[in-house]
Amino acid sequence: MESVLPKENLVIGVIGAGAMGRGIAQVAATGGMTVLLTDTRPEAVADAVKSIEKALARLTEKGTIDQAAMDRALGRIKPAQSVEQFAECRLVIEAIIERLDVKQALLAQLESIVSDDCIIASNTSSLSITTIASKCRHPGRVAGFHFFNPVPAMKLVEVIDGLQTRPDVGDALMDVGRRMGREPVRIKDAPGFLVNQVGRAYTLEAAHLVSEGIATFADVDAVMRETVGFRMGPFELLDLVGLDVNHPATDAIYRQFYHEPRYRPSVLMQSRLDAGMLGRKTKRGFYDYSEQKDAPLA
Ligand code: NAI
Repeated sequence: MESVLPKENLVIGVIGAGAMGRGIAQVAATGGMTVLLTDTRPEAVADAVKSIEKALARLTEKGTIDQAAMDRALGRIKPAQSVEQFAECRLVIEAIIERLDVKQALLAQLESIVSDDCIIASNTSSLSITTIASKCRHPGRVAGFHFFNPVPAMKLVEVIDGLQTRPDVGDALMDVGRRMGREPVRIKDAPGFLVNQVGRAYTLEAAHLVSEGIATFADVDAVMRETVGFRMGPFELLDLVGLDVNHPATDAIYRQFYHEPRYRPSVLMQSRLDAGMLGRKTKRGFYDYSEQKDAPLA
């Protein structure tokens, strides 16, 4: 189907210049789009531009892109003072704080600025796209566009159709995702979308095995990594992500599925969270990262 977005000279807006917004701005600019980037904290935009410059310089050193392509990409990123300057955007991606009320208020404001055919996408990691869109004048133009951190390194992006999303909106995001050099997957709105649901299965099932005394977590990790072929075992993955991020996400998915038993959070994880053993970020999680590198903490 023909994309509803122009193939040439596409102008997009990115709201929120934090960890995710700056990554999205970078891949959009290297993908040939003009990017208006804004944030309620102007210093976040300035900082984002600097970090994109550094990231592109590294790619140039590695020979991934040449100097001219880097200069062109940087030239396409336009800091904006507010969304009031977004009138010409045909696509706006929000990557602001993960709060439903704040996202809904922002989208309402945005709808009074952009044209009726502008697509509005949310990079939410845990909120329902259907709910975010429900307060919009045109909920059909709203979809999820869920990137992974760090964006330039993570190829996957989930394109999420809310209950009222128009099919051509998801089609256009699939196309834009590819133009950004990503590998998009099209899914329907559901708690945890695709990756975070599959991730629950990987980590929770492993935690249940260990809780039941069937295996040690070091053995589960070793088997999944060495024999089965995953890049990381489930507990190594949990230490990388951090239990402060993973456990609340599990809890939210469990509640959103009306206490579906297969998503039940694990006491094993809760106790480590309570102890402040969050993973690599606190130097202790399932493994010790301080002195005795990668040793399991029983
Ligand atoms: P962050 O805290 O690094 O950046 C958020 C930025 O949004 C901040 O610079 C903040 O000043 C700005 N902001 C807040 N409210 C705003 C508003 N009303 N208008 C304009 N700017 C505003 O957060 P991060 O990690 O970039 O997350 C952003 C979104 O992306 C969230 O919805 C999060 O759930 C989602 N996400 C995060 C991932 C991650 O690993 N960090 C992965 C995938 C999605």
